[in-house]
Amino acid sequence: MKKLATIVLIALAFSLNACKGPEGPAGPQGLAGKDGKDGLNGKDGANAGFVYFDGFKTDLKCATCHTPDIDTTFFVAGKVKQWENSTHGNGTAWSEYSSGCAECHTTEAYQLKQAGKPVTNILNPTPPGCFACHKPHSTGDFSLRTTTPVALPASIVGVADATFDLGKGNLCASCHRPRTISPMPDPTKTGATDSLVVTNNRWYTHYGVQSQMLTGVGAFQFTTAATYTKTAAHSSGVIKTDGCVACHMENVSPITPGQAYGAQIGGHTMKMEFVAHGSTTPAQLLTTCKTCHTSITKFDYNGKQTAFQANMDTLKSLLVAKGWIDNDNGILATSAKPIVFKPAARAGILMNYMTLLHDGSNGVHNPAYMNDIVRASIVEARK
Ligand code: HEC
Ligand code: HEC
Ligand code: HEC
Ligand code: HEC
Ligand code: HEC
Ligand code: HEC
Repeated sequence: MKKLATIVLIALAFSLNACKGPEGPAGPQGLAGKDGKDGLNGKDGANAGFVYFDGFKTDLKCATCHTPDIDTTFFVAGKVKQWENSTHGNGTAWSEYSSGCAECHTTEAYQLKQAGKPVTNILNPTPPGCFACHKPHSTGDFSLRTTTPVALPASIVGVADATFDLGKGNLCASCHRPRTISPMPDPTKTGATDSLVVTNNRWYTHYGVQSQMLTGVGAFQFTTAATYTKTAAHSSGVIKTDGCVACHMENVSPITPGQAYGAQIGGHTMKMEFVAHGSTTPAQLLTTCKTCHTSITKFDYNGKQTAFQANMDTLKSLLVAKGWIDNDNGILATSAKPIVFKPAARAGILMNYMTLLHDGSNGVHNPAYMNDIVRASIVEARK
């Protein structure tokens, strides 16, 4: 309609001009007109090679972050070196770029996910880097992309999903969370004829189980008499506000040359220990632990890691003897040669072993819970 009206007006102007005499010389050029309004955003391309979600902060002062000579606020160059030495920076799992995996394994898909967009295959992937956890070109600072509480799906029949809510650690749990498994084990299926059949070697809730272990959820609890306690304190105090960040990202300054410093441990390396050149005993990051355990000298506080490790060894040998796993912790199930758990609830033994193993903290994340689970699993495995 509008277009039609304009055409009519122009035609009218021409017809009026038609009766006038010859045109005089052109006048001086007028002032430049006002800029037009931005058009609508174009449609996103099929491959999210360049993702532009958050807007570009127009008054960014580039040198605040990009010139080590001027950057006395963020020390970006130093953080880059630390990150390069982290498993985020130097691991290889960012090769998992397909749509089902990339949201936790690549920066690009993680951005899509956090922006509420569908996750695609990522054809030019990068590992979880600065622009996964921060958006400095949009915010001008290093605030965190997300601190929203994270749902932790339960993979056990009858158990509700949990919520992880430990402040800054919610960022970590947005990737370090479990995935569901199928078929799900059921603690009430203890009858002699109940069975559960596993046909593939990845029957575990994936690797990001630290969020579950830290908060004391996710393990299979047998209906038989066993105690399942939790170290609730490991979700309190500084861990309540900072979560994983409290222990893994503590800042470390150089102590003596050759000793651990910031680029090797803590900070953006997120590493908890480091073996210095010429040393055999790892330096461990204990400063945060000491705020609660004043006398602690190693992660193996009160021998709880030694106990956990010994029990894990025992459980492993039981599972190897049953033919459920091999010596490299690989699950020995294929569709041609499945594992049949009978009664079905016994599948919980294998589920627990994989979860405790993939947590990677040797019991530290939740000493009470993890030690109780491994003990209960041994009792069941011996039946
Ligand atoms: C708040 C900090 C900050 C500010 C301000 C900032 N950047 Fe960055 N920029 C980063 C970080 C962090 C990276 C990634 C690490 C690196 O390459 O140093 C980065 C990377 C880049 C890259 C490389 C991108 C890539 O994919 O490798 C370019 C280009 C860039 N910035 C341009 C700019 C320009 C231009 C400005 C000013 C308009 C600017 N930045 C302002 C933090 C900042
Ligand atoms: C974007 C997803 C993502 C976020 C966010 C994330 N991680 Fe990770 N993290 C990973 C992936 C994927 C790996 C494995 C990388 C590899 O092996 O290539 C990993 C590895 C690690 C490792 C090393 C594990 C090992 O066995 O060496 C630690 C420690 C770790 N993350 C801690 C953290 C902490 C602490 C946070 C929060 C500050 C965090 N992560 C946030 C995805 C993420
Ligand atoms: C919900 C987030 C998430 C999703 C989705 C996800 N992963 Fe991961 N994955 C992780 C995290 C976190 C780690 C690292 C944990 C650690 O090292 O302790 C990891 C680790 C890995 C590793 C390295 C394991 C090792 O031996 O250290 C491989 C391989 C892997 N994932 C493959 C996949 C594949 C394949 C898919 C898709 C089918 C996938 N992941 C989907 C979060 C995820
Ligand atoms: C896996 C997530 C993750 C990645 C990847 C990551 N960061 Fe961070 N970063 C954090 C967290 C969490 C904090 C907050 C630490 C704290 O509060 O103690 C932080 C803090 C910072 C800070 C300090 C903020 C301030 O206000 O002083 C800077 C600077 C920073 N990051 C830069 C970087 C740069 C540069 C990169 C890429 C090389 C990077 N980060 C990659 C999670 C990450
Ligand atoms: C109470 C402090 C503490 C908190 C909180 C904590 N961790 Fe850890 N974590 C540790 C310690 C200590 C180890 C190493 C134990 C060892 O090597 O014997 C560890 C080990 C790990 C490992 C195994 C690989 C490695 O670098 O040793 C991963 C991955 C990990 N933690 C991720 C996380 C994530 C993700 C969170 C939050 C959900 C978290 N941690 C919370 C203390 C903590
Ligand atoms: C916010 C305070 C806090 C922080 C930080 C903290 N812990 Fe704890 N931790 C506790 C409390 C409280 C207990 C329960 C004490 C008890 O069971 O008597 C506990 C229990 C433990 C236990 C079991 C002790 C036992 O005898 O049963 C171990 C092992 C442990 N913590 C190791 C660590 C390590 C290693 C770190 C640092 C990487 C750490 N903790 C950080 C508060 C904390």
